[in-house]
Amino acid sequence: MAEGWLFKLFLLMLLPPLTFSVSDSEALLRLKKFFTNSSALNSWVPSSVPCNKQTPWGGLLCHNGVVQGLRLEGMGLSGRIDVDALVEIKGLRSLSVINNSFQGIIPQLNRLGALKALFLSGNQFSGEIPPHFFTNMKSLKKVWLSHNKFIGGIPFSLGQLPHLIELHLENNQFSGYIPAFDHPNFKSINLSNNRLGGEIPISLSNFSANSFAGNPGLCGKILGINCTKPVQNTAKLVTNQKRVVGKSGKKLSPKIIVALITLGVMLVFVIILAAIRWMKKKKKGPNGPTTSSEGAIEVQVSVPTAKEEEVNRKRSGSSSRKGSGHVKGGGGAAELVMVNDEKGSFGLTELMKAAAEVLGNGELGFCYKVTMANEAPVVVKRIRDMNALGKDEFDKQVKQFGNLRHPNILTPLAYHYRREEKLLVYQYLPNGCLLYQLHGEHDTPHVGLDWPARLKIVQGIAKGLDYLHMELASLDVPHGNLKSSNVLLGPDNHPFLSDYGFCSLVNTDRVEALFAYKTPDVIQHGNVSPKSDVYCLGVVILEILTGRFPSQYLNDGNRGTDVVQWAESAFAESRQAEMLDPEITSSQNSSLANMEKLLHIGLLCTQTSVENRLEIKEALRMIEEVQVEEGPPLDISIE
Ligand SMILES: *[C@@H]1O[C@H](CO)[C@@H](O)[C@H](O)[C@H]1NC(C)=O
Ligand SMILES: *[C@@H]1O[C@H](CO)[C@@H](O)[C@H](O)[C@H]1NC(C)=O
Ligand SMILES: *[C@@H]1O[C@H](CO)[C@@H](O)[C@H](O)[C@H]1NC(C)=O
Ligand SMILES: *[C@@H]1O[C@H](CO)[C@@H](O)[C@H](O)[C@H]1NC(C)=O
Ligand SMILES: *[C@@H]1O[C@H](CO)[C@@H](O)[C@H](O)[C@H]1NC(C)=O
Repeated sequence: MAEGWLFKLFLLMLLPPLTFSVSDSEALLRLKKFFTNSSALNSWVPSSVPCNKQTPWGGLLCHNGVVQGLRLEGMGLSGRIDVDALVEIKGLRSLSVINNSFQGIIPQLNRLGALKALFLSGNQFSGEIPPHFFTNMKSLKKVWLSHNKFIGGIPFSLGQLPHLIELHLENNQFSGYIPAFDHPNFKSINLSNNRLGGEIPISLSNFSANSFAGNPGLCGKILGINCTKPVQNTAKLVTNQKRVVGKSGKKLSPKIIVALITLGVMLVFVIILAAIRWMKKKKKGPNGPTTSSEGAIEVQVSVPTAKEEEVNRKRSGSSSRKGSGHVKGGGGAAELVMVNDEKGSFGLTELMKAAAEVLGNGELGFCYKVTMANEAPVVVKRIRDMNALGKDEFDKQVKQFGNLRHPNILTPLAYHYRREEKLLVYQYLPNGCLLYQLHGEHDTPHVGLDWPARLKIVQGIAKGLDYLHMELASLDVPHGNLKSSNVLLGPDNHPFLSDYGFCSLVNTDRVEALFAYKTPDVIQHGNVSPKSDVYCLGVVILEILTGRFPSQYLNDGNRGTDVVQWAESAFAESRQAEMLDPEITSSQNSSLANMEKLLHIGLLCTQTSVENRLEIKEALRMIEEVQVEEGPPLDISIE
């Protein structure tokens, strides 16, 4: 502590000479260069000093001749926020671009580790914010992201900022739970008008309802809404606990059972402590300031609590069923229902007690890696908005998924059903998903998947998809969510498809979260079909060959590359070779002709017209014909 303090003093003494305004000036001019409408910044000219006393440049907060803050509010700015330039402004501690016209995903402002205040309110920022985005911004005191179009979960890393006193996220489309705040020192917080759900954490119970209004799924005392749903959970857990106790053969007095139950319930509610690791970092070296923290971070997932009296009520409820002889796998609502026990079988209690690590927070919910004693690790997906089917139909559907057997299909192992949330359990695959393997986590250059590996992945995906189309032919769109984040890689980059068949489970108003519902099929024709999966396959193929993140995944036109449009124009002009990821064209085994062949298949799969688009069978046949090499390998020996 004292050392850190001294060090900071040291830095303070060193800083001024290092940050004299030549570089500030250059950096600011560069920043301005990337804005598309910078008429409000006419005072930013090379011939003057930014922080001069008489006429400082507009929008600067200066201290002793050093730029400490940028206050670019309501200036009609748009274009790109060039973070490289901002990084050069060493004294920068606060950044505001409130009420401008910036669009797209959140810029990598987390490279500005020393920022104390970040104001992005009143723009058109969209997309998800990665869960760990704020991890290295420990100095932040004020974060304003309100009145934008952010989606996805509130990044849990926000909950871990030690000095955060103002948090404004209102009027976005954040979904999921409110993270537990580890250091709640808030002076103001506003989460209203989002799509949050679950109970308001106790750490925020100090605030009034108008900090949370406009989130239909939220409950808690503040809002005067009883969190009744979780009570069912309690009841189920009670049943479960009781069953476990009963099985051990000991007769326990009701009091002890109550005590155990209470303990168990408390355990369950408190235990999911998760360690985050940046998956990619495990495979890659550091790539900038945001990656320097390799250490695991703990996060507590807030699970709604329930009242004791209700526990008691349910206890008597369950004891009246004492004689009914519930056995494992009996299918009661209480249990984790195993649908595939090839990887062993386990109970909800074991699962809930095990150490969990957050892998990600997607549109549909959180995803954890859970390691139980004596068991292989599993992935648990907590999925909200999955009430399209009632309990029995859900059971039937997931059991059907559990019966799938194919080398390229990740079959679910178990599920747990509650009305407001489902848990789906899958085998854990250590190589993570194709998305990360291709692009890394921060749009950094991807890691090495060579051409043979990429071809093998495409072929595996196509085989798995074809199989799903046979087995799940009754669904509108058998996979429905094929994209690189749902292709998991096993040992030796063997691909597995996951998250298929959700179109039958997800609430009808949430299907748009599935990729097949973002294709032209729905946007232009209002209809999904099995061929929507083929379109998704085509996008994945183009993504794999170009190494570019497809803008199709987000559909907001702001991030990534429109790979479909690119492929169309490239083929029209016979420039398709330019599309190929240099990483594969330069590799020893490269066969340009074969890569272009596969690229062409990608184009045929992404035809806007459903009639012109390939059938899955045809696509599979063509993809299987593509060879790694053509003719004898070239001799490119070095030295
Ligand atoms: C450009 O900036 C000016 C000055 O702030 C503003 O009045 C104008 O509306 C902006 N134009 C656009 C297209 O945003
Ligand atoms: C941004 O715009 C809103 C609505 O027009 C206004 O109420 C608010 O004061 C503005 N904030 C800033 C910092 O300019
Ligand atoms: C929260 O509660 C504490 C005392 O429990 C009080 O000092 C503080 O002012 C409260 N904050 C708000 C915003 O009500
Ligand atoms: C939160 O934001 C909403 C919407 O802008 C507003 O109506 C409400 O008064 C705000 N609440 C607080 C506590 O600032
Ligand atoms: C919440 O539940 C308690 C008892 O369980 C009850 O007294 C109270 O009236 C309920 N509140 C609402 C708003 O339903």
